[in-house]
Amino acid sequence: MGRLQGKVAVITGGTSGIGLATAKAFLREGARVVVVGRDQKKVDQAKDLLGERAVAVRADVANLDELDALYARVRDEFQRIDVLFANAGIPGAPLPVDKMTSEAFDAVYATNVRGTFFTVQKALPLLATGASVILTTSIANDFGRANVSAYASSKAAVRSLAQSFAAELIGRGVRVNAISPGGTDTGIIAKRFSPEQVKVVMERLKTTLPLKRLAQPEEIANVAVFLASDESSYVLGAELVADGGVSRFTSVF
Ligand SMILES: NC(=O)c1ccc[n+]([C@@H]2O[C@H](COP(=O)([O-])OP(=O)(O)OC[C@H]3O[C@@H](n4cnc5c(N)ncnc54)[C@H](OP(=O)(O)O)[C@@H]3O)[C@@H](O)[C@H]2O)c1
Repeated sequence: MGRLQGKVAVITGGTSGIGLATAKAFLREGARVVVVGRDQKKVDQAKDLLGERAVAVRADVANLDELDALYARVRDEFQRIDVLFANAGIPGAPLPVDKMTSEAFDAVYATNVRGTFFTVQKALPLLATGASVILTTSIANDFGRANVSAYASSKAAVRSLAQSFAAELIGRGVRVNAISPGGTDTGIIAKRFSPEQVKVVMERLKTTLPLKRLAQPEEIANVAVFLASDESSYVLGAELVADGGVSRFTSVF
């Protein structure tokens, strides 16, 4: 019997990367899964890949009407949510403070902060007693690095939301926790760099990362399975870091 047998799980940002790997893991553990993304083509591809126990819905978490439509569909098909993985997030363009525009800043906050907040708020009527809510933050929420101030601060807000939601929703029997991935191989490096640069970056990662490699999305999905399942019944308001030790060690000395 799977660790999520019979549970209904909604995964925002479930059409690629960490969210898609988690959808596969949740299905393997016996859950029925709803994956959500903005791009209809990716939504259709995810549906084809995940099969009949999965539902794929196009919705932008930054758009409250689209969140309402998403949850209306979940209510019609499943009547409840046992696991909510609020994972949709965007890095935004890496920009120094003096080059940041209000549009670029707002786009990052609209998905990462506002989107995460209302993904949870609008799910409340459907969350079952004993439900698990998992928010995706990032180890970037806790250190300073140039050119990522909007993204890093948005993920600090998500970490804070996990703590506040945990305190508030436990009264309804709902557990809230956060996952904090480190660099994860979801194609982000290939998307941002040329093939020559990718080689250089990968070599650098080998020498600087404690495990000499990025995480695979499946390794983050395994953490999500733990937090989604009753195995984590005494874990509440936690930020579970899965970064191969990066934020625990220092390479400064
Ligand atoms: N990869 C890493 O190294 C890393 C490290 C730390 C934290 N994270 C966090 O992990 C989460 C997943 O990242 P990933 O690397 O798996 O990225 P990814 O492969 O780019 O996947 C992002 C997913 O989120 C969806 N999405 C983005 N904005 C959305 C919105 N406004 N509404 C609905 N869906 C939206 C995307 O769908 P569309 O493409 O259709 O928009 C896609 O399904 C993010 O929150 C990210 O910040 C990633």
